Amino acid sequence: MHTHRFLVTGGQKLEGQIRVSGSKNAALPIIAASLLTNEPVTLTNIPDIADIATMEHILHFLGVETDFDGKKMVINAKAVANLEIEHELVSKLRASILFLGPLLARNKEVRLAFPGGCVIGKRPIDAHLLALKELGAEVIEDGEVVHLIADRLKGAKFTMSEASVTATENAIMAAVLAEGETVIRLAASEPHVQDLCNFLNSMGAKIDGIGNHKLKIKGVKKLHGTKYRVTSDYLEAGTLVIAAAITGGTVDILDIDPSHLDIFWQKLREVGVIFELGEDMVRVLPSPELRAIRLQTAVFPSFPTDLQAPFTALLSQAKGTSFIFETLFDGRLQYLYELEKMGLDPKILNPYQAEITGPTKLQGAAVASCDLRAGAAVVLAALAAEGQTEISNIYYIDRGYAHLDEKLNSIGAKIERIK
Ligand code: EPU
Repeated sequence: MHTHRFLVTGGQKLEGQIRVSGSKNAALPIIAASLLTNEPVTLTNIPDIADIATMEHILHFLGVETDFDGKKMVINAKAVANLEIEHELVSKLRASILFLGPLLARNKEVRLAFPGGCVIGKRPIDAHLLALKELGAEVIEDGEVVHLIADRLKGAKFTMSEASVTATENAIMAAVLAEGETVIRLAASEPHVQDLCNFLNSMGAKIDGIGNHKLKIKGVKKLHGTKYRVTSDYLEAGTLVIAAAITGGTVDILDIDPSHLDIFWQKLREVGVIFELGEDMVRVLPSPELRAIRLQTAVFPSFPTDLQAPFTALLSQAKGTSFIFETLFDGRLQYLYELEKMGLDPKILNPYQAEITGPTKLQGAAVASCDLRAGAAVVLAALAAEGQTEISNIYYIDRGYAHLDEKLNSIGAKIERIK
């Protein structure tokens, strides 16, 4: 972990054009799924972020060759070593849990250090294990290690214990090469889950019902190499929209898929943000007045938990009392204590609910990034604040946003990366 910080000088109006990168949460499972074939896979629109570097690191550890130029990644999994993925790697990237499905299918066995909790709350792996057991995996109790074996994976009909994103992805990756048909109910349907399915189908998988909570998968004997463009990152898109709105600028945000953000657009309208949607872009315009709203997160296509903290930064500038209800995670309101240092007066009702009253004149302060999306929220607040904000722990931001400082600076922000 490095010790870089952001020094943000607030009050700059953002103006111009900015391009959204490829989706982190799509790229991670797609890279893991590339282990399902021994033929080369070429992925484009891969975001240049720390999480992808860690993912690549794990591939190298497994003896898989990669070539990444910051956008395009070629993966050649001619052979995949059957090695335990150790705590040191897993602790850097919770998404390394995504190797369970592919390694089980490829090597008939997988051993991975137990991922444990994370800063945004308890995230058990029961949903993953239950789904993989349905498909024929045997779970060997092994203390600190998740150890699964499956001489043969067999298609099955089952319901996910919850609509977990990565657990659904693991189930899909195990099912595509299983014998016979699999039906998964309560499958997560986030755009990144859909993108993984489309990628797998481009390798010869037979997945039906993409985008629904019920997926039908016909197992195939073999998957082949492919060339695939990863979908754009709707969470980065939402973050950049808020950056434009919170500074009152006029910004075109390009390379987006507006259909990924339906409720986000609804909520923006409710707040009073003025914007125009195009086929693959959005223009954010200055808004005369912002109004308080009730914001509640839920699984796709509802309002994404990953945009809850960024959106609340915007609500700090809205008139009236907004009510925030985070229904998924129990540790995702921590950033409110950071925004408090900048002048917000949040009323934290419990780990899931809070009230904030605005508009607040935010003041620059020394704050920390508590997780990836909380980090984005403090950057957004800093753009609107008077004076300078020093943000520590920005490695969280670098994990999931590609060069956020450079991107925002290219449209007029003043963010300095300091050591
Ligand atoms: N949950 C529910 N109800 C549901 C589904 C989930 O309460 O119907 C709860 C779970 O119990 C858990 C939490 O929500 O506590 C997270 O759910 P999930 O298992 O879906 O999370 P994940 O698969 O571990 C992915 C993303 C996260 C994102 C969540 C939720 C990846 C690699 N990670 O995690 O992304 O927040 O889904 O959408 O795709 C991020 O990008 O900043 C990030 C943390």
